[in-house]
Amino acid sequence: MSALKNFLSIADLEREALRRMPACVRGYVCGGTEDGQSLQESRHHFGRWGFVHRGLRNVEQRSTKVSLWGQEYSLPMGFAPTGFSAIVMHDCDAALASVAREAQIPFIISGASTVPLERLQAESQQRCWYQAYLPGDMERVRPLLDRLRKAQIEVLVITIDTCVAANRENLQRLRFTVPFQFSGKLLLDGMLHPRWSLNVFLRTLLQQGIPRFANLAHSEGPAITQNPSNGFRGERDRLSWEHIRAIRALWPGKLVLKGVMHPDDARLAVESGADALIVSTHGGRQLDGCISPLQALPEVKAAVPQDFPVLIDGGFRRGTDVLKALALGARMVFTGRPQLFGAAVAGRDGIRHAVSIFRSELMTDMALLGCAHMDEITADLLRPVGETSRP
Ligand SMILES: Cc1cc2nc3c(=O)[nH]c(=O)nc-3n(C[C@H](O)[C@H](O)[C@H](O)COP(=O)(O)O)c2cc1C
Repeated sequence: MSALKNFLSIADLEREALRRMPACVRGYVCGGTEDGQSLQESRHHFGRWGFVHRGLRNVEQRSTKVSLWGQEYSLPMGFAPTGFSAIVMHDCDAALASVAREAQIPFIISGASTVPLERLQAESQQRCWYQAYLPGDMERVRPLLDRLRKAQIEVLVITIDTCVAANRENLQRLRFTVPFQFSGKLLLDGMLHPRWSLNVFLRTLLQQGIPRFANLAHSEGPAITQNPSNGFRGERDRLSWEHIRAIRALWPGKLVLKGVMHPDDARLAVESGADALIVSTHGGRQLDGCISPLQALPEVKAAVPQDFPVLIDGGFRRGTDVLKALALGARMVFTGRPQLFGAAVAGRDGIRHAVSIFRSELMTDMALLGCAHMDEITADLLRPVGETSRP
Protein backbone atom coordinates (compact mmCIF):
# COMPACT_ATOMS: atom_id res chain seq x y z
CA MET A 1 0.00 0.00 0.00
CA SER A 2 1.89 3.02 -1.29
CA ALA A 3 0.14 5.52 1.03
CA LEU A 4 1.88 3.75 3.90
CA LYS A 5 5.15 5.42 2.96
CA ASN A 6 3.65 8.65 4.31
CA PHE A 7 3.67 7.12 7.79
CA LEU A 8 7.27 7.83 8.69
CA SER A 9 7.24 6.81 12.33
CA ILE A 10 5.30 4.64 14.77
CA ALA A 11 3.81 7.88 16.13
CA ASP A 12 2.41 8.60 12.64
CA LEU A 13 0.79 5.15 12.57
CA GLU A 14 -0.56 5.69 16.08
CA ARG A 15 -2.23 8.99 15.14
CA GLU A 16 -4.01 7.42 12.19
CA ALA A 17 -4.94 4.28 14.16
CA LEU A 18 -6.54 6.45 16.87
CA ARG A 19 -8.63 8.18 14.22
CA ARG A 20 -9.87 4.86 12.81
CA MET A 21 -10.61 2.96 16.00
CA PRO A 22 -13.92 3.31 17.85
CA ALA A 23 -13.53 4.72 21.36
CA CYS A 24 -13.87 1.32 23.03
CA VAL A 25 -11.14 -0.21 20.83
CA ARG A 26 -8.93 2.84 21.39
CA GLY A 27 -9.51 2.55 25.12
CA TYR A 28 -8.72 -1.15 25.12
CA VAL A 29 -5.55 -0.90 23.03
CA CYS A 30 -4.09 2.37 24.27
CA GLY A 31 -5.32 2.61 27.83
CA GLY A 32 -3.49 2.00 31.08
CA THR A 33 -4.80 1.60 34.61
CA GLU A 34 -5.89 4.10 37.25
CA ASP A 35 -3.87 7.33 36.74
CA GLY A 36 -1.71 5.94 33.93
CA GLN A 37 1.62 6.50 35.71
CA SER A 38 3.08 3.12 34.70
CA LEU A 39 2.03 3.77 31.12
CA GLN A 40 3.58 7.25 31.03
CA GLU A 41 6.78 6.17 32.76
CA SER A 42 7.30 3.40 30.22
CA ARG A 43 7.35 6.04 27.45
CA HIS A 44 9.18 8.84 29.18
CA HIS A 45 12.12 7.07 30.74
CA PHE A 46 13.88 6.76 27.37
CA GLY A 47 14.46 10.53 27.50
CA ARG A 48 16.41 10.16 30.73
CA TRP A 49 19.23 8.32 28.92
CA GLY A 50 21.31 9.86 26.14
CA PHE A 51 23.91 8.45 23.77
CA VAL A 52 27.55 9.40 23.44
CA HIS A 53 28.18 8.18 19.91
CA ARG A 54 31.44 7.05 18.37
CA GLY A 55 32.77 8.17 15.00
CA LEU A 56 35.04 6.85 12.23
CA ARG A 57 34.29 3.21 12.91
CA ASN A 58 33.45 1.92 9.41
CA VAL A 59 29.84 0.87 9.76
CA GLU A 60 29.30 0.06 6.10
CA GLN A 61 28.50 -3.65 6.71
CA ARG A 62 25.79 -3.48 9.33
CA SER A 63 23.53 -6.19 10.69
CA THR A 64 20.59 -6.05 13.07
CA LYS A 65 20.67 -9.84 13.58
CA VAL A 66 20.69 -11.44 17.01
CA SER A 67 20.46 -15.02 18.13
CA LEU A 68 18.74 -16.60 21.07
CA TRP A 69 18.89 -20.30 21.96
CA GLY A 70 20.49 -21.10 18.62
CA GLN A 71 17.75 -19.37 16.63
CA GLU A 72 18.74 -16.38 14.53
CA TYR A 73 16.36 -13.41 14.38
CA SER A 74 16.66 -10.57 11.86
CA LEU A 75 16.02 -7.91 14.51
CA PRO A 76 16.59 -7.68 18.26
CA MET A 77 12.79 -7.36 18.46
CA GLY A 78 9.59 -9.39 18.57
CA PHE A 79 5.80 -9.12 18.94
CA ALA A 80 4.62 -9.23 22.57
CA PRO A 81 1.38 -11.11 23.31
CA THR A 82 -1.74 -9.00 22.82
CA GLY A 83 -5.06 -10.59 23.74
CA PHE A 84 -8.26 -9.82 21.79
CA SER A 85 -6.32 -8.35 18.89
CA ALA A 86 -9.28 -9.46 16.75
CA ILE A 87 -10.91 -6.26 17.92
CA VAL A 88 -8.35 -4.25 15.94
CA MET A 89 -8.28 -6.24 12.69
CA HIS A 90 -10.09 -9.29 11.34
CA ASP A 91 -7.89 -12.36 11.96
CA CYS A 92 -5.20 -10.15 13.47
CA ASP A 93 -3.37 -12.97 15.30
CA ALA A 94 -2.88 -14.89 12.06
CA ALA A 95 -1.55 -11.76 10.35
CA LEU A 96 0.85 -11.10 13.24
CA ALA A 97 2.09 -14.70 13.11
CA SER A 98 2.71 -14.62 9.37
CA VAL A 99 4.37 -11.18 9.33
CA ALA A 100 6.62 -12.30 12.21
CA ARG A 101 7.62 -15.36 10.18
CA GLU A 102 8.40 -13.27 7.08
CA ALA A 103 10.33 -10.74 9.16
CA GLN A 104 12.13 -13.50 11.10
CA ILE A 105 11.19 -12.18 14.49
CA PRO A 106 9.44 -13.97 17.37
CA PHE A 107 5.69 -13.71 17.87
CA ILE A 108 4.19 -14.56 21.25
CA ILE A 109 0.64 -15.95 21.05
CA SER A 110 -1.48 -14.51 23.85
CA GLY A 111 -3.38 -16.86 26.15
CA ALA A 112 -6.28 -14.45 25.61
CA SER A 113 -6.21 -14.74 21.82
CA THR A 114 -9.00 -15.99 19.63
CA VAL A 115 -7.30 -17.92 16.79
CA PRO A 116 -6.40 -21.50 17.81
CA LEU A 117 -2.69 -21.72 18.53
CA GLU A 118 -2.37 -24.77 16.25
CA ARG A 119 -3.38 -22.59 13.28
CA LEU A 120 -1.00 -19.84 14.34
CA GLN A 121 1.79 -22.39 14.59
CA ALA A 122 1.06 -23.52 11.03
CA GLU A 123 0.99 -19.88 9.89
CA SER A 124 4.43 -19.29 11.44
CA GLN A 125 5.99 -22.65 10.47
CA GLN A 126 6.05 -23.78 14.12
CA ARG A 127 7.94 -20.75 15.38
CA CYS A 128 5.43 -19.10 17.74
CA TRP A 129 6.08 -18.66 21.39
CA TYR A 130 3.04 -19.07 23.66
CA GLN A 131 2.11 -16.85 26.62
CA ALA A 132 0.02 -18.42 29.36
CA TYR A 133 -2.31 -16.88 31.91
CA LEU A 134 -2.10 -19.71 34.39
CA PRO A 135 -4.31 -20.58 37.31
CA GLY A 136 -2.56 -21.69 40.51
CA ASP A 137 -3.85 -25.22 40.01
CA MET A 138 -1.54 -27.81 38.43
CA GLU A 139 -4.50 -30.05 37.54
CA ARG A 140 -5.54 -27.37 35.05
CA VAL A 141 -2.01 -26.50 33.96
CA ARG A 142 -0.92 -30.03 32.97
CA PRO A 143 -3.41 -30.54 30.11
CA LEU A 144 -2.50 -27.11 28.70
CA LEU A 145 1.17 -28.11 28.69
CA ASP A 146 0.20 -31.30 26.81
CA ARG A 147 -1.59 -29.23 24.19
CA LEU A 148 1.44 -26.93 23.79
CA ARG A 149 3.78 -29.89 23.41
CA LYS A 150 1.54 -31.44 20.75
CA ALA A 151 1.49 -28.11 18.89
CA GLN A 152 5.32 -28.07 19.00
CA ILE A 153 5.49 -24.83 20.95
CA GLU A 154 9.11 -24.46 22.04
CA VAL A 155 8.94 -21.36 24.21
CA LEU A 156 6.42 -21.02 27.04
CA VAL A 157 6.04 -17.51 28.47
CA ILE A 158 4.24 -17.24 31.80
CA THR A 159 2.86 -13.82 32.65
CA ILE A 160 3.33 -13.18 36.36
CA ASP A 161 1.90 -9.67 36.74
CA THR A 162 -1.81 -10.42 36.37
CA CYS A 163 -2.77 -12.25 39.56
CA VAL A 164 -6.02 -10.22 39.65
CA ALA A 165 -7.84 -7.93 37.23
CA ALA A 166 -6.37 -4.43 37.35
CA ASN A 167 -8.38 -1.23 37.79
CA ARG A 168 -9.00 -0.25 34.20
CA GLU A 169 -11.29 2.65 34.92
CA ASN A 170 -11.17 3.86 31.34
CA LEU A 171 -12.71 0.58 30.16
CA GLN A 172 -15.40 0.71 32.82
CA ARG A 173 -16.36 4.17 31.63
CA LEU A 174 -16.50 2.86 28.07
CA ARG A 175 -18.58 -0.14 29.24
CA PHE A 176 -15.93 -2.46 27.80
CA THR A 177 -15.61 -5.72 29.69
CA VAL A 178 -13.88 -9.10 29.47
CA PRO A 179 -15.85 -11.30 28.81
CA PHE A 180 -17.16 -9.00 26.11
CA GLN A 181 -20.69 -7.63 26.45
CA PHE A 182 -22.68 -5.64 23.96
CA SER A 183 -23.98 -2.27 25.13
CA GLY A 184 -25.75 0.70 23.58
CA LYS A 185 -22.53 2.67 23.90
CA LEU A 186 -20.61 0.07 21.91
CA LEU A 187 -23.25 -0.04 19.19
CA LEU A 188 -23.26 3.76 18.84
CA ASP A 189 -19.47 3.74 18.76
CA GLY A 190 -19.57 1.19 15.94
CA MET A 191 -22.05 3.25 13.94
CA LEU A 192 -19.72 6.24 14.14
CA HIS A 193 -16.89 4.10 12.71
CA PRO A 194 -18.50 2.27 9.75
CA ARG A 195 -15.15 1.14 8.28
CA TRP A 196 -14.30 -0.69 11.52
CA SER A 197 -17.85 -2.03 11.84
CA LEU A 198 -17.72 -3.55 8.35
CA ASN A 199 -14.08 -4.66 8.07
CA VAL A 200 -13.53 -5.88 11.60
CA PHE A 201 -16.75 -6.44 13.52
CA LEU A 202 -19.18 -7.70 10.86
CA ARG A 203 -16.52 -9.54 8.88
CA THR A 204 -15.46 -11.44 11.98
CA LEU A 205 -19.06 -12.22 12.98
CA LEU A 206 -20.00 -13.41 9.48
CA GLN A 207 -16.88 -15.48 8.85
CA GLN A 208 -16.33 -17.08 12.23
CA GLY A 209 -19.21 -16.17 14.48
CA ILE A 210 -18.48 -14.74 17.90
CA PRO A 211 -14.74 -15.30 18.53
CA ARG A 212 -13.84 -17.79 21.25
CA PHE A 213 -11.25 -17.98 24.00
CA ALA A 214 -9.24 -20.30 21.76
CA ASN A 215 -6.01 -20.61 23.73
CA LEU A 216 -6.66 -20.05 27.39
CA ALA A 217 -6.70 -23.71 28.37
CA HIS A 218 -6.21 -27.24 27.05
CA SER A 219 -9.16 -27.01 24.68
CA GLU A 220 -10.96 -24.22 22.88
CA GLY A 221 -13.04 -22.27 25.37
CA PRO A 222 -16.42 -20.56 25.10
CA ALA A 223 -17.32 -17.49 23.06
CA ILE A 224 -15.71 -14.29 24.34
CA THR A 225 -19.14 -13.15 25.49
CA GLN A 226 -19.18 -15.93 28.10
CA ASN A 227 -17.10 -16.65 31.16
CA PRO A 228 -14.80 -19.68 30.72
CA SER A 229 -15.33 -22.37 33.35
CA ASN A 230 -13.50 -21.23 36.53
CA GLY A 231 -13.78 -17.65 35.25
CA PHE A 232 -11.41 -15.76 33.00
CA ARG A 233 -9.02 -15.09 35.87
CA GLY A 234 -9.97 -18.03 38.12
CA GLU A 235 -7.30 -18.98 40.67
CA ARG A 236 -4.59 -16.83 39.12
CA ASP A 237 -4.13 -15.28 42.54
CA ARG A 238 -2.88 -18.66 43.82
CA LEU A 239 -0.03 -18.89 41.32
CA SER A 240 3.34 -19.01 43.13
CA TRP A 241 7.02 -19.90 42.63
CA GLU A 242 6.09 -23.45 43.62
CA HIS A 243 3.99 -23.69 40.45
CA ILE A 244 6.85 -22.33 38.36
CA ARG A 245 9.16 -25.01 39.78
CA ALA A 246 6.54 -27.71 39.14
CA ILE A 247 6.06 -26.47 35.57
CA ARG A 248 9.83 -26.41 35.07
CA ALA A 249 9.94 -30.09 36.00
CA LEU A 250 7.24 -30.90 33.42
CA TRP A 251 8.06 -28.52 30.57
CA PRO A 252 10.89 -29.60 28.26
CA GLY A 253 11.01 -26.37 26.22
CA LYS A 254 12.25 -22.91 27.09
CA LEU A 255 10.52 -21.22 30.00
CA VAL A 256 10.25 -17.42 30.16
CA LEU A 257 8.70 -15.32 32.93
CA LYS A 258 7.04 -12.08 31.78
CA GLY A 259 6.43 -9.17 34.10
CA VAL A 260 9.57 -9.38 36.26
CA MET A 261 10.52 -5.97 37.73
CA HIS A 262 12.19 -6.70 41.09
CA PRO A 263 15.79 -8.00 41.21
CA ASP A 264 14.81 -10.59 43.84
CA ASP A 265 12.19 -11.99 41.43
CA ALA A 266 14.89 -12.10 38.75
CA ARG A 267 17.05 -14.20 41.11
CA LEU A 268 14.08 -16.45 41.93
CA ALA A 269 13.39 -16.87 38.21
CA VAL A 270 16.94 -18.14 37.70
CA GLU A 271 16.74 -20.41 40.76
CA SER A 272 13.39 -21.80 39.58
CA GLY A 273 14.90 -22.88 36.28
CA ALA A 274 13.58 -20.18 33.96
CA ASP A 275 15.53 -19.74 30.72
CA ALA A 276 14.84 -16.01 30.33
CA LEU A 277 12.68 -13.21 31.72
CA ILE A 278 10.87 -10.24 30.30
CA VAL A 279 11.12 -7.00 32.26
CA SER A 280 7.66 -5.53 31.79
CA THR A 281 4.82 -3.62 33.39
CA HIS A 282 2.34 -5.14 30.92
CA GLY A 283 2.31 -1.93 28.90
CA GLY A 284 1.04 -0.01 31.95
CA ARG A 285 -2.07 -2.21 32.05
CA GLN A 286 -1.64 -3.88 35.45
CA LEU A 287 -0.15 -2.25 38.59
CA ASP A 288 -0.18 1.52 38.29
CA GLY A 289 2.53 3.67 39.86
CA CYS A 290 5.41 1.52 38.57
CA ILE A 291 8.80 2.72 37.41
CA SER A 292 9.47 2.00 33.75
CA PRO A 293 10.85 -1.39 32.64
CA LEU A 294 13.84 0.51 31.21
CA GLN A 295 14.59 1.96 34.66
CA ALA A 296 14.26 -1.50 36.25
CA LEU A 297 16.49 -3.14 33.64
CA PRO A 298 20.01 -2.44 35.03
CA GLU A 299 19.10 -3.75 38.51
CA VAL A 300 17.40 -6.85 37.09
CA LYS A 301 20.33 -7.47 34.76
CA ALA A 302 22.79 -7.21 37.67
CA ALA A 303 20.80 -9.82 39.62
CA VAL A 304 21.13 -12.63 37.05
CA PRO A 305 24.14 -14.44 35.55
CA GLN A 306 25.87 -12.47 32.78
CA ASP A 307 24.66 -14.73 29.94
CA PHE A 308 21.06 -15.15 31.22
CA PRO A 309 18.78 -13.58 28.56
CA VAL A 310 16.96 -10.53 29.85
CA LEU A 311 14.22 -9.36 27.48
CA ILE A 312 12.11 -6.24 27.89
CA ASP A 313 8.91 -4.54 26.70
CA GLY A 314 7.01 -1.34 27.37
CA GLY A 315 6.83 1.91 25.44
CA PHE A 316 9.32 1.15 22.64
CA ARG A 317 8.43 3.36 19.67
CA ARG A 318 11.81 4.27 18.14
CA GLY A 319 14.94 2.47 17.02
CA THR A 320 16.84 4.62 19.51
CA ASP A 321 14.57 3.30 22.32
CA VAL A 322 15.56 -0.23 21.35
CA LEU A 323 19.27 0.67 21.21
CA LYS A 324 19.10 2.14 24.72
CA ALA A 325 17.63 -1.08 26.13
CA LEU A 326 20.30 -3.16 24.36
CA ALA A 327 22.99 -0.87 25.76
CA LEU A 328 21.58 -1.46 29.26
CA GLY A 329 21.83 -5.23 28.79
CA ALA A 330 18.57 -6.41 27.19
CA ARG A 331 18.99 -9.20 24.64
CA MET A 332 15.73 -8.42 22.82
CA VAL A 333 12.89 -5.91 22.93
CA PHE A 334 9.20 -6.69 22.43
CA THR A 335 6.41 -4.36 21.33
CA GLY A 336 2.67 -4.62 21.88
CA ARG A 337 0.83 -1.59 20.56
CA PRO A 338 3.02 -0.53 17.57
CA GLN A 339 2.06 -3.52 15.41
CA LEU A 340 -1.59 -3.11 16.44
CA PHE A 341 -1.46 0.51 15.24
CA GLY A 342 -0.13 -0.80 11.93
CA ALA A 343 -2.92 -3.41 11.81
CA ALA A 344 -5.60 -0.78 12.47
CA VAL A 345 -4.27 1.45 9.69
CA ALA A 346 -3.63 -1.06 6.91
CA GLY A 347 -4.06 -4.66 8.10
CA ARG A 348 -1.21 -7.02 7.28
CA ASP A 349 0.64 -4.36 5.26
CA GLY A 350 0.37 -2.01 8.20
CA ILE A 351 1.92 -4.60 10.53
CA ARG A 352 4.75 -5.07 8.00
CA HIS A 353 5.17 -1.32 7.86
CA ALA A 354 5.53 -1.04 11.63
CA VAL A 355 8.33 -3.63 11.51
CA SER A 356 10.02 -1.88 8.60
CA ILE A 357 9.98 1.46 10.44
CA PHE A 358 11.82 -0.11 13.38
CA ARG A 359 14.20 -1.93 11.02
CA SER A 360 15.16 1.17 9.08
CA GLU A 361 15.50 3.33 12.21
CA LEU A 362 17.75 0.69 13.77
CA MET A 363 19.94 0.47 10.66
CA THR A 364 20.39 4.24 10.57
CA ASP A 365 20.74 4.83 14.29
CA MET A 366 23.23 2.02 14.92
CA ALA A 367 25.46 3.50 12.21
CA LEU A 368 25.21 6.96 13.73
CA LEU A 369 26.03 5.45 17.10
CA GLY A 370 29.15 3.89 15.58
CA CYS A 371 28.07 0.23 15.73
CA ALA A 372 27.95 -2.38 12.97
CA HIS A 373 26.56 -5.24 15.08
CA MET A 374 24.09 -5.50 17.92
CA ASP A 375 26.67 -6.85 20.38
CA GLU A 376 28.70 -3.64 20.00
CA ILE A 377 25.89 -1.68 21.65
CA THR A 378 27.13 -1.43 25.19
CA ALA A 379 26.58 0.68 28.31
CA ASP A 380 29.63 2.87 27.64
CA LEU A 381 27.60 4.50 24.82
CA LEU A 382 24.97 5.82 27.27
CA ARG A 383 24.87 8.50 29.94
CA PRO A 384 22.05 9.65 32.21
CA VAL A 385 20.80 12.92 30.73
CA GLY A 386 21.85 15.93 32.78
CA GLU A 387 24.52 14.06 34.79
CA THR A 388 28.15 13.43 34.06
CA SER A 389 28.59 9.94 35.57
CA ARG A 390 28.52 6.67 33.56
CA PRO A 391 25.70 4.08 33.82
C1 LIG B 1 -4.15 -4.63 23.54
C2 LIG B 1 -3.16 -5.31 24.43
C3 LIG B 1 -3.40 -6.60 24.87
C4 LIG B 1 -2.45 -7.24 25.68
N1 LIG B 1 -2.66 -8.54 26.03
C5 LIG B 1 -1.71 -9.19 26.72
C6 LIG B 1 -1.86 -10.58 26.99
O1 LIG B 1 -2.82 -11.21 26.59
N2 LIG B 1 -0.87 -11.17 27.71
C7 LIG B 1 0.23 -10.51 28.17
O2 LIG B 1 1.08 -11.09 28.84
N3 LIG B 1 0.39 -9.19 27.91
C8 LIG B 1 -0.54 -8.54 27.18
N4 LIG B 1 -0.36 -7.22 26.88
C9 LIG B 1 0.90 -6.57 27.27
C10 LIG B 1 1.96 -6.72 26.15
O3 LIG B 1 2.36 -8.06 26.04
C11 LIG B 1 3.20 -5.88 26.43
O4 LIG B 1 3.67 -6.16 27.73
C12 LIG B 1 2.95 -4.37 26.30
O5 LIG B 1 1.99 -4.11 25.31
C13 LIG B 1 4.24 -3.67 25.94
O6 LIG B 1 4.03 -2.29 25.88
P1 LIG B 1 3.79 -1.47 24.50
O7 LIG B 1 2.38 -1.72 24.10
O8 LIG B 1 4.04 -0.07 24.91
O9 LIG B 1 4.77 -1.97 23.49
C14 LIG B 1 -1.28 -6.57 26.08
C15 LIG B 1 -1.05 -5.26 25.64
C16 LIG B 1 -1.97 -4.64 24.82
C17 LIG B 1 -1.69 -3.23 24.33
